[in-house]
Amino acid sequence: MEGLEEVLAQELRDLQLTNINLLKRGVECEGNWAQLYRCNYQVRTAVRVLVPLKTFEIETQDEFYDAVRTIRWSNYIAEGQTFAVRSTIFGEIFSNSLFVTYRCKDAIVDQLSGEHDYRPNVDLEQPDIVINVHLHKTSLSIALDSSGKSLHLRNYKERSYKAPLNEVFAAGLIKLSGWDGKQRFYDPMCGSGTFTTEALMMAANIPSGKFVERFSFENWPEFYPEIWEGVKGAAEAAIQPPEAEMFAGDINRYAVRDLRKNLQKLPYKEQINIKEADFLESRGIPGSVVYLNPPYDKRVQINNVKEFYKLISDTLKNGWQDSDAWILSGNNQAMKSFRLKPSAKINVDNGGIPAKFYKYEMYKGTRKPVKNEKESE
Ligand SMILES: C[S@@+](CC[C@H](N)C(=O)[O-])C[C@H]1O[C@@H](n2cnc3c(N)ncnc32)[C@H](O)[C@@H]1O
Repeated sequence: MEGLEEVLAQELRDLQLTNINLLKRGVECEGNWAQLYRCNYQVRTAVRVLVPLKTFEIETQDEFYDAVRTIRWSNYIAEGQTFAVRSTIFGEIFSNSLFVTYRCKDAIVDQLSGEHDYRPNVDLEQPDIVINVHLHKTSLSIALDSSGKSLHLRNYKERSYKAPLNEVFAAGLIKLSGWDGKQRFYDPMCGSGTFTTEALMMAANIPSGKFVERFSFENWPEFYPEIWEGVKGAAEAAIQPPEAEMFAGDINRYAVRDLRKNLQKLPYKEQINIKEADFLESRGIPGSVVYLNPPYDKRVQINNVKEFYKLISDTLKNGWQDSDAWILSGNNQAMKSFRLKPSAKINVDNGGIPAKFYKYEMYKGTRKPVKNEKESE
């Protein structure tokens, strides 16, 4: 995801992957089978894990078709398996990514039916094998998608209250903030609780893929079940009670209900203190880290957003001394009414809405908050 490349690279370093290079909205690296399985099961900020098969330079649509046919597809799609192709294109050779998908599918089926006498079917809902085509001008890259579905689908979320965060994004923001899983954690505008569930998973070392039913690599003709069982077993053994005290709340009781539902599958959920409460009347315990994702009047409308943001900053200033607050907002105008000075401001992309992740460090009397801080953008 845009803005989370370095966080992802660090997760990969932690898993001892090698030759790590940052790309735009991605990271490339090298690893063995166990590491590939771990990337899917344990890396919180990857959206999908692709294994490149081949790259080409092409000039025409016919060259595209021929390029796809150079790959020996019987190695990757066995008789009786279904497949799907997902394409992203940029450039002049094709005007439509759907047409690229069709041509790729034709090339694969033509090769397998001509040389091996079987015709795999396309299944867009639950394909066994997922092929990723990326065409940037004349550079074509074909990969297998080892994840299958996007890894943000952790399979713990039963309910979504207003404007829930994407799970990968929420995990990435918590990692960007540097939270160590031990400091006191607050999510006082929790909605359906993506910050809280991701934070609990981090603090308790619960693998991000623990509840995923099946990854696509499990369907590959070349799959090593004993390595996969080893990866899962080691990750399971590392689950531990969270050290951090954790708090979540929302002014809306339906949000609180949804958070409880979403936590149902998670070990140690009972260690989170959850209540229906108005943040604007709250006080925090010194030494806390607060994550706020207030409505910012884009997906969720609110009356007088500037006044609301001013009140949030007053609450932080008066009730949360000696704590850090991180606020995600896509409303620059409203943030101007915040009466605190950010010590960090990070550009992020919240599902297509450009947003910023602001850090505020509240000190008891030692630093004066700045009034109506002008932003330089
Ligand atoms: C954008 S949603 C949060 C989404 C959440 N991060 C998630 O991933 O599901 C904003 C939440 O702030 C809550 N909220 C608004 N005003 C509040 C207040 N004064 N105190 C506590 N919660 C409030 C809303 O009820 C809503 O659930």
